[in-house]
Amino acid sequence: MHIHVITAFPKMFDGFLSESILKRAIEKQSVKIHLHHIRDYATDKHQQIDDYPYGGGPGMILKPDPIFRCIESVFAQYDLPDKVTLLTPSGSRYDQQKAVEMSLRNALVLLCGHYKGIDQRVIDELVDEEISIGDYVITGGELAAMIIIDSVVRLLPGVIGDIDSAVTDSFQTGLLDHPHYTRPETFRGKKVPSVLVSGNHGEIENWRQKKALEITKARRYDLYQKYCENEE
Ligand code: ADE
Repeated sequence: MHIHVITAFPKMFDGFLSESILKRAIEKQSVKIHLHHIRDYATDKHQQIDDYPYGGGPGMILKPDPIFRCIESVFAQYDLPDKVTLLTPSGSRYDQQKAVEMSLRNALVLLCGHYKGIDQRVIDELVDEEISIGDYVITGGELAAMIIIDSVVRLLPGVIGDIDSAVTDSFQTGLLDHPHYTRPETFRGKKVPSVLVSGNHGEIENWRQKKALEITKARRYDLYQKYCENEE
């Protein structure tokens, strides 16, 4: 998969791309990440990429020209499906189902919004979908893009060694995950639940399912109800 990120802050991705699963996925060529710096496409001598909003009000708005030039250049250089995703708190809510859908695409083009917003003409002309990672505002779309990249890349074939690990994730099953334990069996006087060391795989599975149901019911009643409806 090729992932193109259109951003005013490409350095924010340095640590993220050089550690853990992302690092390995890049090394194994499961994914190629292309960072495109919006400022490189500004034509004025100060390379200005933002400006005051028409009509007044607080905050700066990302100017249309550098973003148009950047995205047009990306589409001219790479063979991409015509789909640009804008990260914005005004978008549709991101979830695991959307991660699965995006993981089946050949390429992603993620446009990171910033400051107070982005000129609406960019959205009208170039953007196909708007995604929010949750009902809160972060400083820019970069962290949101990283969350999307991380959640999508771990679903790509071969990225997580143990495919069962992704299949049993929270949300993937419709429920939140059950608790996990590792060695030692007794830690500061607290023992691992005995069923997990019983060797009885049927009982272990039942315990995990029961715990997942309890946790989901207590924390996310909406998911619990949906799960129960689907089970009927
Ligand atoms: N940019 C600022 N807040 C955001 C959010 N919640 N989701 C996606 N992009 C954002």
